[in-house]
Amino acid sequence: MAIAIITGASSGIGYRFAQEIAKTGEVDGFLLIARRRERLVALSEELGRGAEVLEADLAQPSGIEAVRAWLAERKPQVRYLINAAGYGVFGDYTQVSEQDTIGMIDLNVKATVLLSHMVIPYMIAGSNLLEMGSGSVFTPLPGFNIYASTKAFVYHYAQALAYEVRDRGIRVTVFCPGWVKTEFFDRAETEKAEGPRVKKPMLTVEYAVSCAMRAMKRGKILCACNWYTKMQHLFSKILPNCIPIAIWRSMLKK
Ligand SMILES: NC(=O)c1ccc[n+]([C@@H]2O[C@H](COP(=O)([O-])OP(=O)(O)OC[C@H]3O[C@@H](n4cnc5c(N)ncnc54)[C@H](OP(=O)(O)O)[C@@H]3O)[C@@H](O)[C@H]2O)c1
Repeated sequence: MAIAIITGASSGIGYRFAQEIAKTGEVDGFLLIARRRERLVALSEELGRGAEVLEADLAQPSGIEAVRAWLAERKPQVRYLINAAGYGVFGDYTQVSEQDTIGMIDLNVKATVLLSHMVIPYMIAGSNLLEMGSGSVFTPLPGFNIYASTKAFVYHYAQALAYEVRDRGIRVTVFCPGWVKTEFFDRAETEKAEGPRVKKPMLTVEYAVSCAMRAMKRGKILCACNWYTKMQHLFSKILPNCIPIAIWRSMLKK
């Protein structure tokens, strides 16, 4: 019995991945992880038999240990690991609280790495591991610094990991969409900072996840999804950082 493990399954991108993976018929079960249990239960009922939920705060050691214990007990065969749990908060170093500064690092970086290393031993040949990057991985972003830096870490980490696990038949994809219409912005925008004035093009979650599913099927290491993010990737290679940083800063609300 092969399963999919999805973090951040209670909303947005993780939620949509669960629905898309269910359609492939490649898994017999799911482990759905997030903090909001009732949302996970609703999704598990939609997915049907074989979907289990684990309420866990992955920014806390206890949440990580809960996943480790589940794995040790069940010893599953894992066909997909989708590490979608993550968050960002707009603002400069005076505007983002210390709790969120560390929280983003703990969830976006620490939990991503720990979960990956914990699950890889259970992954079967032909399986896919998806790490959540972002369009922000390509350029340092004043006013979104901690988030962009955590995602830049994931971007590099995932690409190197892809080579480390390739001989085991595991394909790693780092997914770097631009803005996607989800609940992400409910947490990212605060009274202190709201991020850029224009967040366009804004992708639908359906479109974004279908891009990532195709990229995983093709064994692509980087999925940049749309033309806008592909341009950001290209410009980051040919332009000095000060140019995209100046464009980004011009879009920030005063
Ligand atoms: N939306 C965008 O524009 C965009 C663009 C590029 C990349 N991303 C990345 O895509 C991923 C998914 O984001 P989204 O857009 O789908 O946002 P979302 O709708 O807010 O989903 C975030 C998910 O992460 C979970 N989560 C948050 N904190 C957690 C914690 N401490 N422990 C466990 N789970 C936690 C949330 O569940 P609970 O609250 O129930 O715990 C939720 O399921 C994130 O890594 C984000 O950085 C988003």
